[in-house]
Amino acid sequence: MPVLNINIDHIATVRQARRADEPDPVWAAAQCELAGANGITVHLRQDRRHINDRDVQVLAETVACKLNLEMSMEEEIVCVAEGIQPEQVTLVPEKREELTTEGGLDCVTWASRLKEVVRRMHKRGVLVSAFITPEKKHIIAAARHGCDAIELHTGQYANAETPKEIYQQLKRLEAARDLGLKKKMLVHAGHGLTYRNIAPIAAMQDLSELNIGHSIIARSVFVGIREAAAEMIRLIDKFGKT
Ligand code: PXP
Repeated sequence: MPVLNINIDHIATVRQARRADEPDPVWAAAQCELAGANGITVHLRQDRRHINDRDVQVLAETVACKLNLEMSMEEEIVCVAEGIQPEQVTLVPEKREELTTEGGLDCVTWASRLKEVVRRMHKRGVLVSAFITPEKKHIIAAARHGCDAIELHTGQYANAETPKEIYQQLKRLEAARDLGLKKKMLVHAGHGLTYRNIAPIAAMQDLSELNIGHSIIARSVFVGIREAAAEMIRLIDKFGKT
């Protein structure tokens, strides 16, 4: 059964709407941890539009569960990761104009940089996951360049509308999972997962971690973040056992 890492970037987005000091993502992380989250995920973007350097520093000092730093392979950000040494980094592509991470990391085009970043992270005992579209070439490249895990982009599954499309996307994710496992990597999944579409993903055998942000933070506005996190954990546990 997969475990849940909660992406708390949106807490910082609300803070930045007023350039104020609340709500503090560090408080959110503590609440998620109290609800039973396996990990906390934050994306330190180059433009620092939500999570900032102080946040990752304080989270690195205070998060007792797993801290998963989502990041691009830009040198400045890689240096921050070397400094704070989170338990895990998830490598993503990053475009300034995007609302959220759009595609997966192109592990073929960026092979030599990927290899270098993996080497530097491993030197500091940091696990490396690559966020990729569920395609053979990226899975093979991620394995070849030493990634410990891949995070399968579930965006196309989340956007699928008809039962046929949903079925096809699930099969695609399963095939990618099988290849990832065959290549001796851990397989994570995330993006666009919600309380409504989580069931088949939670039920998918041998996924290790799920990264979920928007849906949990959106619900937390109404029910509180600890309750929103606990509800998602209950769903993953329920469907993960089926
Ligand atoms: N995984 C990765 C690599 C992401 O970039 C994001 C979005 O920040 C997520 C998971 C979470 O996606 P969502 O906010 O749609 O749950």
